Amino acid sequence: MKEIKKILVTGSKGQLGRCLQDAVLTEKGERRKEEGEKTLTFFFTDIDELDITDIAAVADYAFNNKIDCIVNVAAYTAVDKAESEPLVAFSINGDGVWNLAHICMEQNVFLIHISTDYVFDGTASSPYNTNTLTNPVSVYGKSKLAGEKAIKDAQIPSVIIRTSWLYSEYGHNFLNTMLRLGKEKEEIFVVDDQFGAPTNANDLADAILMIISQTYKITKPEIFHYANEGVTTWCGFAKEIMDTAQQQCEVNPIFTAEYPTPAVRPAYSVFELSKIKKKFNIQIPDWKDSLRNLLFF
Ligand SMILES: NC(=O)c1ccc[n+]([C@@H]2O[C@H](COP(=O)([O-])OP(=O)(O)OC[C@H]3O[C@@H](n4cnc5c(N)ncnc54)[C@H](OP(=O)(O)O)[C@@H]3O)[C@@H](O)[C@H]2O)c1
Repeated sequence: MKEIKKILVTGSKGQLGRCLQDAVLTEKGERRKEEGEKTLTFFFTDIDELDITDIAAVADYAFNNKIDCIVNVAAYTAVDKAESEPLVAFSINGDGVWNLAHICMEQNVFLIHISTDYVFDGTASSPYNTNTLTNPVSVYGKSKLAGEKAIKDAQIPSVIIRTSWLYSEYGHNFLNTMLRLGKEKEEIFVVDDQFGAPTNANDLADAILMIISQTYKITKPEIFHYANEGVTTWCGFAKEIMDTAQQQCEVNPIFTAEYPTPAVRPAYSVFELSKIKKKFNIQIPDWKDSLRNLLFF
């Protein structure tokens, strides 16, 4: 495997992409370098500059910039809207990823791709390991599974990271919605029968950088699970946000059936995390500690 020096990040104006930029760049926009680290150059792009559904444009970009590694955080992430526009969801999450996998194959580029807990149906009662059978129950989940399959079929050295319940300071996510509602409402109702682990996108960005420095350990497509440690429900997450942010808003539990949405969500989304921790020597923070870190620092 060739040495990684030049890294293309797609979809980098989304929340994970912005966390990756923060992890990589100083306030002056220069590359943050650890002592003794090799020089890496990052190319941060989004759909306005580089659309992953345009195979010729991405192939040219990768070739012209001598890219060694693509980190794909581009995705169609509108879970409910996907139910009514499956073609768009599949074209980005399935065909777009197929394009990247084939460019990587032709140009000998390492691929790091982000997938989701929504590839599972949520009927399990113990944490999913990376061999657990997938069975997505939403269009979004099916489209993300199509992306995983494209990479597996291409048989390229690559890492697929499934993550869950991503939040950060950026964009539309559960944390930002709760912080807004905490200021606007005296009480809210949040589903308390879906179990999973909130994941601070800044922690995932750090994990991706750790993986970039250890791609020599990977020779074929491999799936890993990454979430913050611990388990809660959306209601538990909401209560912790209100407590930590010292909001007076009361959070009341409800059943999923009382909050119908176009897309079905898995009732159980907990990952087994030991594979990624061991393979790349990654320490994963507990979700409550990570939330506190984000809100206070
Ligand atoms: N958010 C979650 O809770 C969650 C949970 C599990 C897994 N994931 C996965 O984690 C990854 C990152 O999610 P995120 O929350 O950072 O998503 P996000 O905020 O929606 O960011 C995705 C970015 O990709 C861009 N994009 C869309 N279509 C594109 C295309 N054809 N070419 C290039 N860029 C394109 C989007 O642009 P526009 O905004 O203009 O469309 C957006 O900037 C995704 O793979 C997602 O499936 C997310």
